[in-house]
Amino acid sequence: MADRNWIPVRGAQGTHSRQAHADMPAGTYEREISKEGFFGPAAFFHHPRPPTGWIRFEGPLRPRAFNLAALNEDAPSPWDAPRILGNAHVEIRFWKLEAPMPALARNADGDQLLFVHRGGGDLFCDYGRLAFEAGDYLYLPRGTLWRLRPSEGVSILMIEATNAHYTLPDKGMLGPHAVFDPAMLETPAMDAAFRAHQDEPGEVAVHIKKRGLVSTVTYPYNPLDAVGWHGDLAPARLNVSALRPVSSHRYHLPPSVHTTFVGERFVVCTFAPRPFETDPGALKVPFFHNNDDYDEVLFYHAGDFFSRDNIDAGMMTFHPSGFTHGPHPKALKNMLVQAKPSTDEYAVMIDARDPLDVDAAAASVENARYVDSWNTPG
Ligand SMILES: [Fe+2]
Repeated sequence: MADRNWIPVRGAQGTHSRQAHADMPAGTYEREISKEGFFGPAAFFHHPRPPTGWIRFEGPLRPRAFNLAALNEDAPSPWDAPRILGNAHVEIRFWKLEAPMPALARNADGDQLLFVHRGGGDLFCDYGRLAFEAGDYLYLPRGTLWRLRPSEGVSILMIEATNAHYTLPDKGMLGPHAVFDPAMLETPAMDAAFRAHQDEPGEVAVHIKKRGLVSTVTYPYNPLDAVGWHGDLAPARLNVSALRPVSSHRYHLPPSVHTTFVGERFVVCTFAPRPFETDPGALKVPFFHNNDDYDEVLFYHAGDFFSRDNIDAGMMTFHPSGFTHGPHPKALKNMLVQAKPSTDEYAVMIDARDPLDVDAAAASVENARYVDSWNTPG
C-alpha cells in the first residue's frame, strides 16, 4: 500500500515501548490498531488490562465460533455443500463426501480451493489423476472439470475466489523459494488409473455452478477423455507439511507472513508449526488487534491451538472487524514465557477485505457462548 499518501501524523504519549510487539512496559497489554491489515499506518496502545475484558457484548457484532465437524450433511456434489460464510469475492463452504462423486463438477464462478481437513483419495480432472490426503490444498482453476473419489470419508473446506484468480503472495526479500518452493506444487498425471477412469462406460453428468445456480450437462461418455495436454495452467496440490513458515526469534511477526494464496480482496493463510520467539522482551502470543479493515476467519485443522481455549479440530472462528481480539486468558499467561519450544498447530485463515455474511448452516452449529470465552480464565 506504499502508493497511498497516508495522513502524516506520528506521535507517542505516556508510557510506551519503541519497538512494536517487544519490550512492552511491565504489566501492560499491547493493542494494535492499523490500516490495510498489517501493511498501513498503525498505532500501539499499552493497557493495564487485556482489551478483551468485556463483561457484556450486545448487538449484531460479536466474535463467533462454529463447530463445522458437527455439520453432518453428506453431499455427493460440492454445490450441495452448505455455504458457511461469504461475500461478493469469497465463498466458504464445508463439504462432507463419503462416497465417490457420481457426477463431475465445474465451477464457472471462479477459481476453487479445496482444503482437505479429513480423509483422502483421488482427484480425477481434465488433466489426469492426483492422489490427495488430509492437509492438502487442491487448487482447481475456474472451468476445470473434476471429481473426487475418496478412499475414506472426506471433510473439505471449500474456498472460492469468486470471479477471480488465485495467485501466490509476493515473497519480497524472502526470495521466491521461501515458505514453500514452487517445485513442491504437484500436478495431475495421465496415468493408468486416469485412463481406466476414462474408459468407464455409461452416461456422465456434469454439474456446472454459474452465478450460484447449478446446471447439469450429460454426456453419453466420460468427458474427462483428453489424451494429452500442454500449457502453464493446471490444478495443483500443496500439503501443509511442505510449508516452512517464516519466524523471528526476536519479533512476533504478523499473520500476513503466513499468506499461502491470494484471492481478490481476500487472502488464505496457513498457520504451521514454528518455534516460539526466544528474546526475553518479545511477545510470544498474537498481539491484541482490531484489524479494522478485515473480517477474519480461522479454521482449526490439527494440533494444539495455542492462542485459543476450548477450540478443537474442525471448528471455525469468525472475528468480524470492529472489536479487539487476541489471545484467550489461558494462552495470555504465556505472553512472555512459553513452556514449549514451538507451536503445534495447523490452521487455515481467511482474511476478507469486505464484510462476510454468516449463513444458516454455520448458525446451526454455533457455540453461542464463544463471546464469553475471554472472561473465563483458564
Ligand atoms: Fe486477528
